[in-house]
Amino acid sequence: MPFGSVGNPKSNTLMTEYASLLSDAVLRRRAHVAENSARIETELASKIKSEFIANMSHELKTPLNTVIGFSKLLNQHQDRPLPDKEIVEYAALIHEAAGRLLSIINDILDISKLQSGAYTIDSHELNLEDILTSILDEFQPQADGGEITLSREIAPDLPFVRGDANKLKQIFSNILSNAIRFSSAGGTVSLKAFRTDDHGIAILIRDSGVGMSPEEISVAMTPFGQVDGGRSRWREGAGLGLPIAKALIELHHGHLDIHSEANEGTEVIITFPGRHSMTTPSAAAVSGIRHPQESTP
Ligand SMILES: Nc1ncnc2c1ncn2[C@@H]1O[C@H](COP(=O)(O)OP(=O)(O)OP(=O)(O)O)[C@@H](O)[C@H]1O
Ligand SMILES: [Mg+2]
Repeated sequence: MPFGSVGNPKSNTLMTEYASLLSDAVLRRRAHVAENSARIETELASKIKSEFIANMSHELKTPLNTVIGFSKLLNQHQDRPLPDKEIVEYAALIHEAAGRLLSIINDILDISKLQSGAYTIDSHELNLEDILTSILDEFQPQADGGEITLSREIAPDLPFVRGDANKLKQIFSNILSNAIRFSSAGGTVSLKAFRTDDHGIAILIRDSGVGMSPEEISVAMTPFGQVDGGRSRWREGAGLGLPIAKALIELHHGHLDIHSEANEGTEVIITFPGRHSMTTPSAAAVSGIRHPQESTP
């Protein structure tokens, strides 16, 4: 008898029983998979949260302690006079620590505005070459200090872009700072910028540093996510630079891509399309950044 013996009541009952057993098994399996992925997501969120708290308290306390400690010494100057050289040195340390605190606070405010979709950019016609050159010049001393060769190749025919100069600087500063911080002495960091076929611009920032696995890239793109707390803690950082950069690039209608492999270095590719309208989409919508109170779909 051919398979699916229609009309035979016994085999029909058997088939119905099989079908019901099979669908029960499928439903149980689906529930198991959903339960597992929910558990993994909760565990990951809780791991990121604890690393965030540990890392943020370190990030905030270190500069605050510098401000408190050195301002106390300056305050005691009348009772315990300090040489001029030390006064200048302490003032510089306080200035640097306060700058670091301000930048962390600004990043936290940025990510929260980006998450709520309340972020706006102030767009003008810009020459990207000027922006890239000024950022590269700014990072040259840091690269020299870390014995890292910083090279640049900026095509002379880059089209003008419409964008927010400060936000574009913020994007490239973070990506270049990462490339230098995660490379060792003797390493290289290169920036290439060229015109794309659609008259847009591509910027490639490549480093020879520690690199990241695909899972580590996902962590790095999560707000406050840092790859391997132990490894990154001594390099400082709040884990906000990349998600902010991605959201800001998307506000400029661009795209950020990361190609990386553990121990093989990292390449960050940023593209801006040729002609784009200046209507500004919500960063939350374009970057996948979710407000913490929003539920997972
Ligand atoms: N070029 C890179 N090479 C290797 N790891 C990187 C690189 N860029 C980023 N990462 C990893 O991704 C993490 C997140 O980067 P991100 O720029 O968001 O934060 P951060 O640099 O740690 O802190 P912040 O930028 O807020 O000061 C880093 O801590 C690091 O572990
Ligand atoms: Mg960073």
